[in-house]
Amino acid sequence: MRDLQLGDCRLHLVQGDITREHADAIVNAANSGLRGGGGVDGAIHRAGGPAIMEECRRLGGCLTGEARLTGAGNLPAQYVIHAVGPVWSGGGRGEAALLASAYRYSLRLAEEHGTASIAFPSLSTGAYRYPVDQAARIALRTVLDYCLASDGRSSVKSVTFVLFTADTLRAYEEALSELARARESGSA
Ligand code: APR
Repeated sequence: MRDLQLGDCRLHLVQGDITREHADAIVNAANSGLRGGGGVDGAIHRAGGPAIMEECRRLGGCLTGEARLTGAGNLPAQYVIHAVGPVWSGGGRGEAALLASAYRYSLRLAEEHGTASIAFPSLSTGAYRYPVDQAARIALRTVLDYCLASDGRSSVKSVTFVLFTADTLRAYEEALSELARARESGSA
């Protein structure tokens, strides 16, 4: 399953490179220093050019579970939202709550800036080693709760997960099917 309509908000899963996404805002999997790195972070700064890093330097970092917004330089998006997910260290250090918080924070920032569409990568599941099956459930659940709670009042009408590998896409498809089944049976 790759699509789910939640009130007036559409949730969509695709495989691809987030730097090519034409969403109003794309989300970066950043570190708390906002200093750049490999993975999505490296790809976004490479494709977006130095203006994004100049803004990041002025922001002075970001706590884990939060996010900060900059312009998007040469990227087709209007904004980059730099979200800091947790490093996986076994699950007993509040990782699930921190991961959900990073998604929620990003959605709120997008809403504050009046954006209609936002694209996320799979936060924390690369260098930060969060198990992708668990991370996918948290990511999708957090977006679903946000869309349903905003009940049409948020500017955000489209949320796309741009997943880099076929395995990551598969994990998100399974998590989305599970969530949709739970909603139908009334347990979510
Ligand atoms: N588009 C979409 N997804 C991508 C792209 C891309 N261009 N490049 C990598 N990915 C995927 C990875 O395959 C993984 O599924 O993004 C997911 C997140 O991986 P990371 O980028 O490693 O992010 P994370 O696990 O949150 O680690 C963050 O890594 O790059 C550093 O500075 C960053 O220190 C921070 C840490």
